[in-house]
Parts: sequence; structure tokens; C-alpha cells
Amino acid sequence: MYFYSSNYKSSIESILLIPIKYILPLKILNMNEITNVTILGSGQMGAGIGLVCAIHDYNVVFYDVKEEFVNNGIERNKKWIKRQVEKNKLSKENAELITQKMSGTISLEAAVSNSDLIIEAIIENLDIKKELWAKVANFAPEHTIFGSNTSSLSISEMAKASKRPSKFLGTHFFNPPVILKLIEFIQTTHTSEETMNIAIQFGQTLGMDTVKAKETPGFIVNRLLIPQLNEAYLLLENDIATKEDIDTAMKIGLNHPMGPLTLSDFIGLDTILYIAEYLHKHLGPKYKPANILYDLVNQGKMGRKSGEGFYIYN
Ligand SMILES: NC(=O)c1ccc[n+]([C@@H]2O[C@H](COP(=O)([O-])OP(=O)(O)OC[C@H]3O[C@@H](n4cnc5c(N)ncnc54)[C@H](O)[C@@H]3O)[C@@H](O)[C@H]2O)c1
Repeated sequence: MYFYSSNYKSSIESILLIPIKYILPLKILNMNEITNVTILGSGQMGAGIGLVCAIHDYNVVFYDVKEEFVNNGIERNKKWIKRQVEKNKLSKENAELITQKMSGTISLEAAVSNSDLIIEAIIENLDIKKELWAKVANFAPEHTIFGSNTSSLSISEMAKASKRPSKFLGTHFFNPPVILKLIEFIQTTHTSEETMNIAIQFGQTLGMDTVKAKETPGFIVNRLLIPQLNEAYLLLENDIATKEDIDTAMKIGLNHPMGPLTLSDFIGLDTILYIAEYLHKHLGPKYKPANILYDLVNQGKMGRKSGEGFYIYN
């Protein structure tokens, strides 16, 4: 039976990032199916999604291809937790409780064999994702729900590879998940209503707002966002404006929290290119990625995570 311990509730309150009004109704929901969450891919998004789950009292196991990658994700989360303690947003005791909720492995079997919900956040490549989901299905229990955090790719194709289409849906979080409190849930023609309902209730236990979309390349947010980012690249490429002015224009003129080029560096230019190419292939020529995006990615300039993208980071 899943429940919040009183310690945990106070830990959540003490973080002050999740309004308690989001948490209290959750006890009424039928969430007793989900206790153990597995995160496949311990990169930017996987680590962040796992952190949010651990904060909300789920047991979280991270899986990645190398121990180093698993550890990097957990270490990043520990640093975030430490900063919250230093800022007096979290007690040491509660920091310890959250930390204990996170573990990692490079054994897929160990990662998924006791899992109630698996969220995949590996590289944005359909073939690699399908290959992993096919393996996951060999080890995961029958009741386990499968979610992909893909930004754009076909959920149906992954669902087919997993051989559990009724249990499979898109669970699209935003970067960083501990701050951006939205999950897009993507339903394929095979995802059961029960799977959707459990996933949405799970999202609410994380203090998230949730939206539903039918399967389509880019879903809601990236279908709107990626063409806008690409137009910013074309403005820069065609020497219409400087990168600083493009960012300032959107920040001040439209009250966006950050400009499109800063946002791109934050998301990761390789990830944007994967999504843009996918939209281009499936939705037509108006989604063609700008040359400057290819150039930067080919030079290894992926944005913040590599130290340089449109801007340089120390
Ligand atoms: N970056 C964003 O802003 C953002 C937002 C929403 C969704 N997403 C999606 O989340 C997913 C991950 O993106 P990210 O930004 O975290 O990427 P990332 O490059 O930071 O992390 C990807 C991780 O996946 C691991 N990986 C690769 N192949 C693997 C495999 N076969 N098995 C296990 N692990 C494997 C890598 O080692 C790496 O640690 C992508 O599908 C992306 O589209 C990204």
C-alpha cells in the first residue's frame, strides 16, 4: 500500500516547491499500484524526473549504459539536494530521506524486475529506444506501466516493440522537471484508459499539472516550440539580428523567461536537432532544420551540457 509518511510530507512542505494543495487530494486517488519507479537513462531529463519522484516518496532506480553515467545523474541530484539544505529549504534529515530513495544499476533486469512504472529518458533515437523497450519487456512484471519521455518520436512504434501496447504511453516532462510542473501524457490508439488514468494520477502526486494529447509528432509543446526555435536560428543564420538581440526581443517583447537561443542551449542542440529532423520528416518542408543547427551539433557544440552552444558556458 502506498502512502506518504509524516516525515515525507514535512520534507515536501519544507522544500516549498510543491504547493501542499496538490499533494493532499492525492491520498484519495487510487495510487496504490505505484511504489517503485525505474528511470531508463540517467542524463539531464532522467536524473531530473527521478529526483521529482524521490522527493515525492517513490523508490527510484536509475539505469544507464555505464556506471559513470548512472552515478553522474545521482550526484547531480545530490548536489541539488545539498543546495536546498544550504538555502534552508530542506532539513538535513529530509535531504537524507530523499537521497535514500535513489539507487542505480547498469543491469536492466535488476532495474525493471520490481518496477511498477518505467519512464524511459534515453537518447532521442527511435531505433535505440525500440531496442531497449524490447529488452525491458523480458524482465518487467505484467502490471508495470511503460512511459517514454520522448520529445517527438512515435509512441506507437515503441509500444509495439515493448509488446505491451495497452500499458504504454508518452510521459513527457519538461526541463528541469523539478521546476517546470507539466507532464504531457500521450495516448496511442492502443493505450488503455486504465493506463492513462493511473499515469495521470501519478503525475498529480508529483504536484504536476497534466495535459493529454493524441499521438502526433511533437505532441503539443514541441509542435509549437521547435518551429519557433528554428525561426530564431534562421534569423541568426541570415544575419538579420545578433543572438543577443533575438533573445532580448523575445524575452522583453513577449515576456518569455529566456530567449530562444538561450533556451536551445538549455535543452541541448543535439536533442533539438533530433526532434526537428523528425518533425521535418513527418510534417513536411516547413520544419526543415536550419543549417546553423547542423553546424553547431557537428562541431560538438550541444549547449550548456557540452560547455558551448549558441553561447559559451564556464
Ligand atoms: N533536454 C530536454 O530539454 C528534454 C525535454 C523533454 C524531453 N526530453 C527527452 O528526454 C530524453 C533524454 O534527453 P536528455 O536531454 O536527458 O538527454 P541526455 O543526453 O542528457 O541523456 C541521455 C542519457 O541516455 C543514456 N542512454 C543512451 N542510450 C541508452 C541505452 N540504450 N540504455 C540506457 N541509457 C542510454 C545516455 O548515456 C545518457 O545518460 C530524450 O528522448 C529527449 O528528447 C528532453
